Amino acid sequence: MLDTFECILTKLDVREFSSENVPLEIKMKILEAARARALTNPNYNFHMIDAGRVVQDMQLAAWNFGVVSCLFTGINVENLRRDFSVPEQMQPSIVVGFGYPAKKILGKKNRLPLDEIAFLEKYDTKLDSQKL
Ligand SMILES: Cc1cc2nc3c(=O)[nH]c(=O)nc-3n(C[C@H](O)[C@H](O)[C@H](O)COP(=O)(O)O)c2cc1C
Repeated sequence: MLDTFECILTKLDVREFSSENVPLEIKMKILEAARARALTNPNYNFHMIDAGRVVQDMQLAAWNFGVVSCLFTGINVENLRRDFSVPEQMQPSIVVGFGYPAKKILGKKNRLPLDEIAFLEKYDTKLDSQKL
């Protein structure tokens, strides 16, 4: 089990999956992580934030159990509707693939230092993490 901070900092999107089945118990836990959020309602202009929270929680829950995932936005909505019988009033926003990694994960997150991307109080006021 990873602690929350470790889970957030280590999680990577992985695009190649092995053929090993994810046990039902873990699938249910990933779904449970999604259920803990608000359903998204397109009548609210923040509904995509809700959707993002659901997806991120599912991905983090999966990562905690060694299950990797990846987001796919290049979806053909009409084909999705047809193949999965999605009703007209529902709008698919993203597809998330889950599975065990095909290869050992060697990489880690590659991010700019905080001092380069975060500001203090006002935009463009440099954040000096040594002085916080
Ligand atoms: C809104 C959104 C859409 C994305 N769509 C795709 C996609 O269509 N295909 C893909 O390979 N990755 C997609 N990604 C995944 C990003 O490439 C991924 O978040 C990136 O690799 C950084 O994640 P990581 O640091 O957890 O690995 C998408 C990410 C976001 C946030």
